[in-house]
Amino acid sequence: MTSPTPSPTPPAGSVALITGGTGGFGRALATRLRDADVRVVLADLDSDRNRSVAADLGVGFAVLDVTDHAANQQVVADVEAEHGRLDAAFLNAGIAGSGDTDALDVEEYLRVIAVDLHGVVYGTDAARPALRRAGGGSVVVTASLAGLSPMPTDQAYSIAKGGAVAFVRSIATALHREGITISAICPGFADTAIIDPWREHFESADFPVLSADEVAAAMAAAWTSAEPGAAYVVQPGVGALPYRFKGVPAAKNAAGESARIPGQLLGPL
Ligand SMILES: NC(=O)c1ccc[n+]([C@@H]2O[C@H](COP(=O)([O-])OP(=O)(O)OC[C@H]3O[C@@H](n4cnc5c(N)ncnc54)[C@H](O)[C@@H]3O)[C@@H](O)[C@H]2O)c1
Repeated sequence: MTSPTPSPTPPAGSVALITGGTGGFGRALATRLRDADVRVVLADLDSDRNRSVAADLGVGFAVLDVTDHAANQQVVADVEAEHGRLDAAFLNAGIAGSGDTDALDVEEYLRVIAVDLHGVVYGTDAARPALRRAGGGSVVVTASLAGLSPMPTDQAYSIAKGGAVAFVRSIATALHREGITISAICPGFADTAIIDPWREHFESADFPVLSADEVAAAMAAAWTSAEPGAAYVVQPGVGALPYRFKGVPAAKNAAGESARIPGQLLGPL
């Protein structure tokens, strides 16, 4: 597995959809892609602020609550109707839990997984036929380091992001057969609105946080260069590196040899 080398820029005129697109990572990515002559549509919750973010960037805007399956499909249909194709879907919308160490708040858990996990599954399902129609393309999921190293202070977020990484790894082979590459980006803490509640703790501990543009660079590189099913860790001073999953002990057969999983469970290769 290789790092998503930032070299090949997406073809000019290709079309990218970014969910949660008016937030920190979305704006940084939209700026990069717009400057590479990609046609960008930011999909986000309906607000004057979000519409004007897109207008100020000179890119498209679509109202989308990613927790609504049908709305994801409608936005993809609208993008295809307006731009004729979809080449990349950045499934980036996300919210964090409250970060209360002791509380297990079931309402909050349902809210967070609806956006951070179900939104990714719905977005993939919606984009898949359009990407196929475009002759192939990419899905880039903004997961989190919390999906690889669970946060003791945010169970909902850790479950959702871990689930998103598992989803990407699970569906990668099937999508790859259709010419679609799916990958996950797993950033550490980065300088966007989502860390506002904890910003002063990072500052007082002199803890380095990523810039939004460092993460956007990894997202853009994943579009053109990701390995199917890869999860790229992005950390300050480290760049974007593929996470090496350790694997699990294989079952042994009666002879004590490692048993092979039946081919039917692996799917066609
Ligand atoms: N900033 C970090 O430290 C960090 C680290 C790792 C992963 N992430 C992930 O990166 C992604 C982008 O976050 P960000 O850092 O840019 O934060 P952000 O708060 O600036 O952006 C998040 C965006 O998601 C949108 N959103 C929230 N709920 C939505 C919904 N139901 N439907 C559509 N859009 C919705 C928000 O309106 C906002 O524009 C998120 O998935 C987040 O979990 C962030």
